[in-house]
Amino acid sequence: MSEVVGYEVRGRIAVVTVDNPPVNALGLPVREGLMAQIDRAAADDAVAAIVLIGAGRTFPAGADIREFDQPVVEPHLLSIVDHFDTVEKPIVAAVHGTALGGGLELVLGCHFRVAAPGARVGTPEVKLGIFPGAAGTQRLPRVAGLDHALELIVLGEPIGAAKALDYGIIDEIAEGDLLEAGIAFAEKILSEGTPRRISSEPREGIGSPDQFADILQKYRDLAGRRMRGQESPLEALGSVIDGLEMPYDQAVIADRARFPRCKDSDQSKALRYAFFAEREASKIPGVGKDISPKPVETGAVIGAGTMGGGIIMCFADSGIPVTAIETSQDALDRGLAMITKNYQGMVDRGRIDEAEMARRLGLISTSLDYSGAADADLVIEAAFEDLELKKTIFADLDAVAKSGAILATNTSYMDINQIAAATGRPSDVIGLHFFVPANVMKMLEVVRTDSSSPQALATGMRLARTFGKVGGLAGVSHGFVANRSRAPLVREANFLVEEGASPAQIDQVLREFGMPMGVLAVSDLSGLDVSWRMRKSLAHLRDPDERYFHLADRLCEMGRFGRKTGSGWYSYGEGGSLPVPDPEVEEIAAQVAAEQGIERRQIDDDEIRDRCLYAAVNEGAKIVEEGVALRASDIDIMWQYGFGFPKWRGGIMYHADRVGLPTVLARVEEFHAAHGKLWQPSALLRDLAGSGGSFTGT
Ligand code: 3HC
Repeated sequence: MSEVVGYEVRGRIAVVTVDNPPVNALGLPVREGLMAQIDRAAADDAVAAIVLIGAGRTFPAGADIREFDQPVVEPHLLSIVDHFDTVEKPIVAAVHGTALGGGLELVLGCHFRVAAPGARVGTPEVKLGIFPGAAGTQRLPRVAGLDHALELIVLGEPIGAAKALDYGIIDEIAEGDLLEAGIAFAEKILSEGTPRRISSEPREGIGSPDQFADILQKYRDLAGRRMRGQESPLEALGSVIDGLEMPYDQAVIADRARFPRCKDSDQSKALRYAFFAEREASKIPGVGKDISPKPVETGAVIGAGTMGGGIIMCFADSGIPVTAIETSQDALDRGLAMITKNYQGMVDRGRIDEAEMARRLGLISTSLDYSGAADADLVIEAAFEDLELKKTIFADLDAVAKSGAILATNTSYMDINQIAAATGRPSDVIGLHFFVPANVMKMLEVVRTDSSSPQALATGMRLARTFGKVGGLAGVSHGFVANRSRAPLVREANFLVEEGASPAQIDQVLREFGMPMGVLAVSDLSGLDVSWRMRKSLAHLRDPDERYFHLADRLCEMGRFGRKTGSGWYSYGEGGSLPVPDPEVEEIAAQVAAEQGIERRQIDDDEIRDRCLYAAVNEGAKIVEEGVALRASDIDIMWQYGFGFPKWRGGIMYHADRVGLPTVLARVEEFHAAHGKLWQPSALLRDLAGSGGSFTGT
């Protein structure tokens, strides 16, 4: 009857099984099958109750996102859920895996709900620019109460089974075989004569917005802070608010009008693009499912500074024993103190408890020489950015690391081919480039050298997942993919200050575009001395015809390294963390401009935005053209997870596609004419603009 929704009768219980791998998404065939099989059970005299379950790894994980660009065909999920209300026989959801979005709405449509201990439920729709459109915004507040419902609906983060039980979303956590538990639960309610619970009841409204003003404001504020600029959390909140006073039937009609507006919005399209781009980023041609990653059961990290410390935490957070290796006891002590302080902060914020902190710290051992890396399955070097030092470290590591261990460097821009060549096992060497802070930022750039083996790459990509991060592939190139594509943005911001824009104006334009922080405020945070040191170390390679960072150098020469020294592009009050515009920077900029023969002028916001973004787009195009990135969408994912670029913008390459590549090219050519060779248009950009193509296939 249905190929994707099974039906079988066990005793007097009908078992309806959704079987649509990989995640049992609720596409049209599933929706048709569900309607048909539930009706079949309702009409089957031998059946007294129904258990609804998912085959394979999960209960349905939501609507089929790929259908969103097509017209919606009945039965809608809403029709199915509403239909469940009218089925006289109890329907029990048996939930495992991830019941998300429409999956949770289906669960809510069932009259009773049991879940496996590892199940997770949630309504992540806001992350796709929409809101739960199959009555989730109406039923969840009735089932879980307004506060808990808004936590799920507005913030979009899933919760585990224990919390779901606490919130009243599920009735029981089932140990052992889930189907058997679902059937037993159905038998129990039949024998006890428990009446069906209908989650659309009460049918009248459940209160007035005034009555819940505090809770509503709490989520308005949270949405503004966590998803600044994103419309969907507020649409989701609006749907819930509408439904507070309206009867259920009227509220779902209002939702039907709201839903297409969200689904067809630019933000939703960008977020859906980002969803699939993220999954695409993990795919490397030639590194298919037949290549098994090496197991990583123990790790070692060389260097326990800021980066090394963060990486050590990644291992410990994932339950993997790790050895921290440093050159002096002092450095080890400092590193461990910083790690302990970070964990203590997590305890103070209620993220983990003392016992968990002790467990994680217990996974960290220390060593003052490389013998500490002898047993590690994977070693990550996070020492100073000095090529000769790194080559020596890798040669030494080669002598002690066990055969088959993966040796990785966290360098941000060094030539990893040279580092790999310092070992007798270059095929086991890769780059693993973390973003600051390493234990927080979700991106992990996996760098392929000329000789990295597919298995080494697969291991790096798997490690990203183990660490709860998103892996993306990069080739060897100065700054690899992420930093290389971002560098021109920083460059243009620097030059714009020399030309007359203020740091505050530049940062304001970028924040208005959606970036979490302005680029110059970020530079102040990470320290202007970092790139100054890099510029000095690479001075011998500088092209004298290229425009140079005179102003940034001057700030550094004055000891203005950013927030840590109390001044940089901005000034910071005593112990202050807020950037304050500093007239002295204006004066220095004017001096530098005069020395360099740059005529200062009023610069409008459009120029600032286009120069910053298109400089990055043009470089991104060169990165794709050279094969350093596999695809333009990988760059977008790296910006989202490495730099906090707003997901609802899709990414810089996606943004360029939306603007239109001929328009972007025209601007790049204009800047090329005005500012010289750094703006040389990419051949790929020219080709695509000429042929009507796009970077991201959108
Ligand atoms: N629709 C279509 N395809 C989906 C999908 C969905 N809802 N969810 C996952 N997939 C696809 C992925 O694209 C991927 O395809 P690929 O193998 O071709 O790349 C495959 O399923 C496996 O997905 P993941 O690689 O993400 O697998 P994981 O095991 O890492 O994660 C998951 C599983 C947690 C379910 C994750 O896929 C996920 O978060 N999916 C989206 C869940 C979601 O947003 N649901 C709400 C949808 S909107 C909705 O329901 C509207 C309703 O209110 C009306």
